[in-house]
Parts: sequence; structure tokens; C-alpha cells
Amino acid sequence: MPENERINRDGQISRRQFIKGAGIVVGSTAVGSSVLLGACGGEESTKTVTVTKAVDKYVCPVDNMQFDTLAALQAHFESEHAATGLNTIALNVNGKEYITEVKPYWSLTFVLREKLGLYGVKQGCGVGECGSCTVIMDGRSVYSCMVLAIECQGHQIKTVEGLSDGITLSSLQQAIVDNSAAQCGFCTPGFIMSARAFLDDNSNPTMDEVREALSGHVCMCGELKTIVDAVHGLGG
Ligand code: FES
Repeated sequence: MPENERINRDGQISRRQFIKGAGIVVGSTAVGSSVLLGACGGEESTKTVTVTKAVDKYVCPVDNMQFDTLAALQAHFESEHAATGLNTIALNVNGKEYITEVKPYWSLTFVLREKLGLYGVKQGCGVGECGSCTVIMDGRSVYSCMVLAIECQGHQIKTVEGLSDGITLSSLQQAIVDNSAAQCGFCTPGFIMSARAFLDDNSNPTMDEVREALSGHVCMCGELKTIVDAVHGLGG
């Protein structure tokens, strides 16, 4: 495994895998959270965490020029391709088909929130660092701020709104409530979506596996331990 896909904390722990290999991810700075890994008790709390970033480029869908930031891509697009205007796309979100108009550089986060009204998707950092915007795409959790909406046609997207029937919480959501694993709640949907994708792949995880699976998220309220406990408690 390349060095930039690892989190080193004395021994080697693989960085979380969910963003790796997702072909439509246009940029990735997804790395483990040293805060999370150090905050959940056990021997990890005394170890040094070194996080190595793997940064890809944002690619202009018109001329394939590459940019370091979404803002740079947006500036390029508006100066070079303004006449391209809006594109009509179809998105499958939570099992429903949506037809909407997007500009080619709009992120999936922006379109889910501002065009489809799915405000359970939260934008925090906007640059692939915090995990609050996480959704599930084709069974894998991805940072929606790092995905262009125009590239999501033909994919199955699930947001936190798709986990329950609108009345009864899913077991995972209920576990978060029962464990008092949220304070402000801003990061909670992102944690839940990563946990959902993870538990669908691994129904009986160890505590370390849960920590690693959620290591791409941060919780500024300090509920990391209760979140990990809630997710781990669902396994088995
Ligand atoms: Fe997307 Fe922070 S990772 S908003």
C-alpha cells in the first residue's frame, strides 16, 4: 500500500478506504482523524498520530485542465466556459429520480442541499477534511463536497434522509440517540452515513475497525467516544 494511504501511529493503520478508488471522486484529501484515533480510550490515546494527505486534482469536465481547489476550478470555468451554462441531469437519491439543472463545477453537496432540499447533508470544511458531507454512493461512503454532481448520473446516492421512513428512526440512528452520541449534531449525519456503509460490509466489527472506519470524521463537540461506542454496539 502506498505511503500516502496510511496513517502511521507507531504501527501501521490503513487509512479509511471509502474514498479510495471511487472513480467519480474529483479530489481527495480524505485522511484519518488524529483526534478520533486518540480520543477513544485504550492504548491509542498515548500514541503519536501522523496523518499524510493524498490530494488529487479537480478536473474541468470541459477541457480536462486540473486545479488544486474547487474555487480554482470554478474561476476557470466561469472565465473560460461561461457559455456552457446549466446542464440538465438526472440523479437517483434515496431511491427517487430527480431531474435538475446544474453547473458543471457544482459539488454534490451543493446540489443535494440547494437544489434537492436534502439539508441532512452538511457542508463543513468543503475540502474533504471533516466528513460532515458524507453520503453513500453505490454502497460506499464518499465526501459529497469532493464529487461533482454532474458526474453522479447513473449512480445510487443515499443521504441520511433515506435511512428512515420519516417516522421511525433506523437502528443506527436510534443507537446514536440512545447513546447520547450527539451534541450540536452538525457532524452526525456524516458519521451515520459512513457507519451505515461500514456496517453493511462488516456486521460484527471490532472497536478498532469502527475507529478506523470513522477516522475520516471530526466532531468538534467531543462526542467521538460515544459515537464509536454506539456504532460498535450495533455489531454482532
Ligand atoms: Fe466535505 Fe468537510 S469533508 S464538508
